[in-house]
Amino acid sequence: MKDGAIVRVPLIAGNWKMFKTATEAEETTSQLIRLVSDVENVEIMIAPPFTALSIVAGLTKDSRVDLGAQNLHWAKEGAFTGEISAAMLVSAGCKYVIVGHSERRQYFGETDHTVNQKIHAASLSGLVPILCVGETEMQRDEKKTFSVLDKQIENGLEGLTFDALHPLVVAYEPVWAIGTGKSATPDQVQEVHLYLRNLIEKMFGNILAKATRILYGGSVKPDNVSELMALPDVDGALVGGASLQADSFSKIIHF
Ligand code: PGA
Repeated sequence: MKDGAIVRVPLIAGNWKMFKTATEAEETTSQLIRLVSDVENVEIMIAPPFTALSIVAGLTKDSRVDLGAQNLHWAKEGAFTGEISAAMLVSAGCKYVIVGHSERRQYFGETDHTVNQKIHAASLSGLVPILCVGETEMQRDEKKTFSVLDKQIENGLEGLTFDALHPLVVAYEPVWAIGTGKSATPDQVQEVHLYLRNLIEKMFGNILAKATRILYGGSVKPDNVSELMALPDVDGALVGGASLQADSFSKIIHF
């Protein structure tokens, strides 16, 4: 997508959540790499579970597909049982890391403060953070969408600089659209994406606002992706369910 002199290459990212053993991930990745070998001018990322990172990294290394993780811990290292650091993700071959997914906020006590610490850790180690934001259905009904997003972006990116956030990816994922089959309408998506871009401009200036890719996530499927990707402020998609099968994910990538 073009915006003045800055070109934002679309990013189609797959979040596999807690699905797939290493063997299953290996199979889907091999199929996907074959199916997307013709794709140009689109960046592709898959975020498998931690246990499959290494096997998927081996396959994606010389392919069009980049590797991402679904979460990280903010400390460099330490006695944090069950956690994974940014350096571990880098050494496993990750380029991206998803931060603040609504499932982590909802079920695992993720707050804007921990999201902020994780974004700091990710950018310090050279990982590109994908910061997830989005309102619940009740917040939308109560007309709180924009105040919720203000808080998630302002607190999530507190203390960061232009240099640390260049590049930055933001994913707008209305909680009510995740895994429900209920995608937001193009008007709702464009309105929020433009709002988010303006917010980033206010905080970090015009260049970062124009360079930041804003993905939409929430029931993206092969049959609604082109309509979403045609919106001026949509620079890609974060896909859950429909990224689990190589053929449906490939159709989305070929939007
Ligand atoms: P979904 O999930 O595509 O299954 O709605 C999106 C996400 O949680 O990132």
